[in-house]
Amino acid sequence: MKPEQDFEESTAPEKQSESRRGVVAIVFGLVAAGVLASCVSVNRVVMMPPQIPGAAYVGSETCSQCHEKISTQFVTATHANLKAEGVTAANVGCESCHGPGSLHSESGGAYHTIINPKKSPETCFQCHLDKRGEFHLPHSHPVLAGQMSCGDCHDPHGGPAIRGGGTALLSQNESCLECHAAQRGPHVFEHEAMREGCILCHSPHGSVNPKMLAQRNANLCLKCHFQEIGSGITIGGFPHGANLQRGTCWTSGCHEAVHGSQVSTSLRF
Ligand code: HEC
Ligand code: HEC
Ligand code: HEC
Ligand code: HEC
Ligand code: HEC
Ligand code: HEC
Ligand code: HEC
Repeated sequence: MKPEQDFEESTAPEKQSESRRGVVAIVFGLVAAGVLASCVSVNRVVMMPPQIPGAAYVGSETCSQCHEKISTQFVTATHANLKAEGVTAANVGCESCHGPGSLHSESGGAYHTIINPKKSPETCFQCHLDKRGEFHLPHSHPVLAGQMSCGDCHDPHGGPAIRGGGTALLSQNESCLECHAAQRGPHVFEHEAMREGCILCHSPHGSVNPKMLAQRNANLCLKCHFQEIGSGITIGGFPHGANLQRGTCWTSGCHEAVHGSQVSTSLRF
C-alpha cells in the first residue's frame, strides 16, 4: 500500500467526527507536531489545527508584536516544545490553540476574530482526545458547562502545563485549594494522606464516582491502611469487621473528616 493511501484512510474518520461536532469548524491541515509524530514520517497528519473562516496562519512572530509578555514567557511552556517541520511550520505555536490569526492581526485584535480556549475546551480536545471522555463522566469539573476552563488548572503560556507538576506536589494542592478553601486546614488532627496530594483520592477531570473519587469504596483508604484478616478484620489495630458492613469509611459515621479534623484523632467531625 502506498503511504498516501494509508494516510487518507487513517485520517478520514477522525475528520468526519470532528466536523460533526461543529463548535469550531475543524479542517484538515498539514501540521506535524514533533512530539506526536516521533514514530511516524514527518509529512503525516498528526493533528488538525482549529479553523477560522477566511483566516490564514501568520506565525507566532506576528502575535508577539502585540502580545509581548505572553510571547516572551511562552518559550518556557510545555506546549512550546511542539515542533513542526516543513513548509507549514508556522502553524504550530500560538495558532495551534488559537487558530489562524490573520484577520485578528490585521484588524488590530477585533472582537470575535480569534479562538479563546477560555470559552471552550474544543481546541484542547483536538489533541487531547481522551480528555473529552473524561469530562463526560458523571462527576466532573464543570468545564463542558462553561463554568470553568482548562486554564484554571493548566498554564498554557509559561512553565509546566500541570501546575506544580512533577515534584512540587504541595503547590499542586495549592492550585486546588484556591477554589476549595474548606479543605485547606490547618486541622488540629491532620490526615497525612493530604501530603500525597488531592489527586491520590480525586480524579480531577472526572470520575464515575461521586465527588470525583478515584475509588468508590473502602479500597480508596485500604491502599494505605492495611487490612489484616485474622480472627476478624482489623485496620489500624482496631477490629473493623462490623464497621465495613455499614458503608464507606467516610459515610458510615466513622471518618467523615477525611481531609483533617478539628476534634478527633480518628478523623471525625
Ligand atoms: C495588531 C495587534 C495584535 C496582533 C498582531 C495580535 N493581537 Fe491578539 N489581541 C489584540 C488586542 C488589541 C486584543 C484585545 C485586547 C486584549 O484582550 O488584550 C487581542 C486579544 C486577543 C485574544 C483574546 C480574545 C478574546 O476573545 O478574549 C487572544 C486569544 C489573542 N489576542 C491571540 C492572538 C494571537 C494568537 C495572535 C497571533 C496569531 C495575536 N493575538 C495577534 C491585538 C493583537
Ligand atoms: C496550549 C494552548 C495554547 C497555546 C499554544 C497558546 N495559548 Fe493563549 N490561551 C490559551 C488558553 C487556555 C487561554 C485562556 C486562559 C484562561 O483560561 O485564563 C489563552 C488566552 C490567551 C489570550 C487572552 C488573554 C488572556 O490572558 O486570557 C491571549 C492574548 C493569548 N492567549 C495569546 C497567546 C499567544 C501570543 C501565544 C503564543 C506565544 C499563545 N497564546 C499560545 C491557550 C494557549
Ligand atoms: C497541537 C496539539 C495540542 C493542543 C492544541 C493542546 N495540546 Fe496540550 N499537549 C500537546 C502535546 C503533544 C503535549 C506533550 C508535550 C510534552 O510532553 O512535551 C501536551 C501536553 C499537555 C499537558 C502536560 C502533560 C504532562 O504530562 O506534562 C497538559 C496539562 C496539556 N497539554 C493541556 C492542554 C490544554 C489545557 C490545552 C488547551 C488550552 C492543550 N493542552 C492544547 C499537544 C496539544
Ligand atoms: C480541576 C483542575 C483541572 C482541570 C479543570 C483540568 N485539569 Fe488537566 N490535570 C489536572 C491535574 C491535577 C493533572 C495531573 C494529574 C496527574 O498527575 O495524575 C492534570 C493532567 C492533565 C494532562 C496530562 C496527564 C493526562 O491525564 O493525560 C492533560 C493532557 C490534561 N490534564 C488536559 C486537560 C484539559 C484538556 C483540560 C480541559 C478540558 C483539563 N486538563 C482540565 C487538573 C485539571
Ligand atoms: C477554578 C476553581 C477550581 C479549581 C482550581 C478546582 N476546583 Fe474542584 N470544583 C470547582 C467547582 C466549580 C466545582 C463544582 C462545585 C459544585 O458542583 O458544587 C468543583 C468540584 C469539585 C469536587 C466535587 C465536589 C462535590 O461536592 O461533588 C471535588 C472533589 C473537587 N472539585 C476537587 C478538586 C481538586 C482535587 C482540584 C485540584 C486538582 C480542584 N478541585 C480544583 C472549582 C475548582
Ligand atoms: C485520603 C483521600 C482524600 C484526599 C487526599 C483528598 N480527599 Fe477530598 N474527599 C475525599 C472523600 C472520601 C470525599 C467524600 C466525602 C463525603 O462524601 O462525605 C472527599 C470530598 C471532597 C470534596 C467535596 C466536599 C465534601 O467535603 O464533601 C472536595 C471539594 C474535596 N474533597 C477536595 C479535596 C482537595 C482540594 C484535596 C487536596 C487538598 C482533597 N480533597 C484530598 C477523600 C480525599
Ligand atoms: C496516602 C496514603 C493514605 C490514604 C490513601 C489514606 N490514608 Fe489515612 N492515614 C495515612 C497516614 C500515613 C496516617 C497517619 C499514620 C497512621 O495513623 O496510620 C493516616 C491516618 C488516618 C487516620 C487516623 C488514625 C489514628 O487514629 O491516628 C484515619 C482515621 C484515617 N487515616 C482514615 C483514612 C480514610 C477514611 C481514608 C480513605 C478515605 C484514608 N485514611 C486514606 C495515610 C493514608
